[in-house]
Amino acid sequence: MRAAGDTLGFVATMGALHEGHVSLVRLAKQNTTRCIASLFVNPKQFAAHEDLSAYPRDEAGDVAKLEAAGCDLVFAPKPNEMYADDFATAISVGGVSNDLEGLSRPHFFGGVATVVAKLFLQVQPDMAVFGEKDYQQLLVIRKLVRDMAFPITIIPGPTIREMDGLAMSSRNAYLSAPERATASAMPRALRTAISALEHRAPIKATLARVEADLTQAGFARVDYVALREAETLAPVAGDTLTGAARILAAALIGRTRLIDNMAVG
Ligand code: PAF
Repeated sequence: MRAAGDTLGFVATMGALHEGHVSLVRLAKQNTTRCIASLFVNPKQFAAHEDLSAYPRDEAGDVAKLEAAGCDLVFAPKPNEMYADDFATAISVGGVSNDLEGLSRPHFFGGVATVVAKLFLQVQPDMAVFGEKDYQQLLVIRKLVRDMAFPITIIPGPTIREMDGLAMSSRNAYLSAPERATASAMPRALRTAISALEHRAPIKATLARVEADLTQAGFARVDYVALREAETLAPVAGDTLTGAARILAAALIGRTRLIDNMAVG
């Protein structure tokens, strides 16, 4: 493709593809002449107690969706092709990794940074698209690319939502019908908070309200509800909103952990 003068866009995925992934492929195709996608359920980003073996897998269905979206090539390595038995390297991005998801899932961003760095070197794209759904991951990858001077432009892809506002996620497949109904409380609570914050409501009380709304709706546990600087995820100073920020939340319904985030201000 390179020899033919093509520019290469890349979308890294763990498969179980939905409209959100498809939108990332379309975005890649708008910016480059070819799109390459990877399908790899990365064991390094799952802790022992997490859902690695249960993670939904449908390679044939995924390849069909990618092809229909205009993807030109799929890279679907086997675990031992990525991680030989004596694989011994780990990439750790400090700073933005250490908070929020990093506190709830300490292994996660190291596993993501390690696999994404390797995928970047294998694919050598000009541009890569990462979804804003995993907002902190997007910032970690931006930091990785800047710190290590990967010659790759990172483009954010907007979150794609179901009709009731729930952010699309492969893990939504785990939800039972009543849990799925509960899940829509997450985007609703975030939207209510955004409107309050933009009307100068106190930050602390507004975030506490989101947490209470989620618990009331039937979420089993709230890991965090936070308002952060959009570019750095540093805590927002002051009692009320003064500039652009990001609201982020993570909570469990039954055994399924959902995350979401939205722009504020
Ligand atoms: O966002 C994901 O699906 C994964 O974390 C990624 C970026 C494909 C790395 O395994």
